[in-house]
Amino acid sequence: MDHKAFAKQLAALGKHRASLSMNMRDAFAADPQRFEKFSATDGDLLLDWSKCAVDEEAMRQLVALAGAAGVEEKRAAMFSGKHINITEDRAVLHTALRDLDGKGLHVDGQDVKKDVESVLAAMADFADAVRSGKAAGATGKAITDVVNIGIGGSDLGPAMATLALAPYHDGPRSHYVSNIDGAHIHDTLKGLDPATTLFIIASKTFTTVETMTNAETARHWIQEKLGKEAVGHHFAAVSTALDLVAKFGIRQERVFGFWDWVGGRYSVWGAIGLPVMIAVGPENFRAFLRGGAEMDAHFRDTPPQKNLPFLLGLVGFWHRVVCKYPARAVIPYDQRLSRLPAYLQQLDMESNGKSVTVDSKPVTTPTGPLVWGEPGTNGQHAFFQLLHQGTDIIPVEFLAAAIGHEPNLRHHHDLLLANCLAQSEALMKGRTLEEARAQMLAKGQKPDFVDRIAPQRVFSGNRPSVTILYEKLDPRTLGRLIALYEHRVFVEGVLYDINSFDQWGVELGKELATQLLPVVEGKESAAGRDASTAGLVGHIRRLGAK
Ligand code: F6P
Repeated sequence: MDHKAFAKQLAALGKHRASLSMNMRDAFAADPQRFEKFSATDGDLLLDWSKCAVDEEAMRQLVALAGAAGVEEKRAAMFSGKHINITEDRAVLHTALRDLDGKGLHVDGQDVKKDVESVLAAMADFADAVRSGKAAGATGKAITDVVNIGIGGSDLGPAMATLALAPYHDGPRSHYVSNIDGAHIHDTLKGLDPATTLFIIASKTFTTVETMTNAETARHWIQEKLGKEAVGHHFAAVSTALDLVAKFGIRQERVFGFWDWVGGRYSVWGAIGLPVMIAVGPENFRAFLRGGAEMDAHFRDTPPQKNLPFLLGLVGFWHRVVCKYPARAVIPYDQRLSRLPAYLQQLDMESNGKSVTVDSKPVTTPTGPLVWGEPGTNGQHAFFQLLHQGTDIIPVEFLAAAIGHEPNLRHHHDLLLANCLAQSEALMKGRTLEEARAQMLAKGQKPDFVDRIAPQRVFSGNRPSVTILYEKLDPRTLGRLIALYEHRVFVEGVLYDINSFDQWGVELGKELATQLLPVVEGKESAAGRDASTAGLVGHIRRLGAK
């Protein structure tokens, strides 16, 4: 990053915003070309940011800012396998997992393409065997239920993708257990038959306490019902720590590896995607990978002004740093993307929730926003009140498919889309006092009541939103969407001048949990801990003793 040029450009951008005082309603009225100017496409995929308070000069300056930050150079470094994850001294190559048709890459003496292809082929063989009933349980019965045990990146990606691809799901039923809360595995196993259940233990490190605890419980469940010998038939594993997997007792031909250059939250494209592949079949999984690769090519080869991840990142930076909005809501008007917000929370917040630059100095700008959301239209009946009339401005990202998967339910889909468009229009336009008054008077309400109540019905408007539209949520499109968001997070991370690929912020809590376990178990005293923690432990013990 050219720090001096970046600071100068950022100051200019701040000044420009201060002088802009844009009202979007007026901007649309004044410029019939506004949508054309502030939207871009890649095939059927459309990004519309015209309902954000930017003008052409703001976009020009944002692109210049990305130039000063060195986004394009860092992008090239990532794709070529340079160790851009500087704190862990690792390459960042999740893009290689989906580069099925590319030329291949040698990194750190490793033929990455060959490795990726051989794991993918092994996954496909296993997935086919499970789907066809060839890889049966210990009693010879075909597998009907696959339970993925993992957490964070070893759960959110495949769980989100399995749900998203429900119309393509023709394999065994899928279940995801992540929480260490025994309720999660208990409630999942309650309805399952051990003779027809396959567990996939998914953990990059194979040390994560939640996953290992749930894996032990699952092994115990199988052993208790089917005997010790059955374990080999009912377990598979996905990990980079092959030695630890072997110790757990999972058969070698059922272990699928990946590499330290794949971050947990970027891992759904490789072996962590195994439960998705079993659910939808290897062909659909490959279509998902090809979609991701298409977005990679678009990100690599398209000028910033038309580059979807670039633009989404620039708009995100504008809202977070220039406008200082603390959060963004992701609202898929697509029920099957209902786990997308949770998935993006890890992707975005674990990547960009940092306070130190790549040079280990305090950051000079705010970094990643709070990311949250729920599907529309449900969100409309819950938190949209605050989005429209609350005191904070929260940019919204809407996602929607032009075509649903249920042709016989077309009316539902038309209503869904009408609601999605209505929300972004309402956020942008708002409703003035005069409009509120006129509407009430037209309904025959009394003038003194109108005078008193109309201010409650005013919407300030001018609230930003981005809309992402696509033809249909098929495997290819899901791949493009996820890669779009991955690269967006990358662009914003470079602009924040941070390393988006480590996650030291989750360590301290893990260390303290290890220390606190014997205290909670009553084997050690809470003496010496802070008064709150000691008090809480005391209360837990008193309640637990009843
Ligand atoms: O939450 C921290 C984290 O390391 C994530 O980055 C990762 O996705 C998750 O834990 C699970 O880790 P593992 O796959 O090693 O069990």
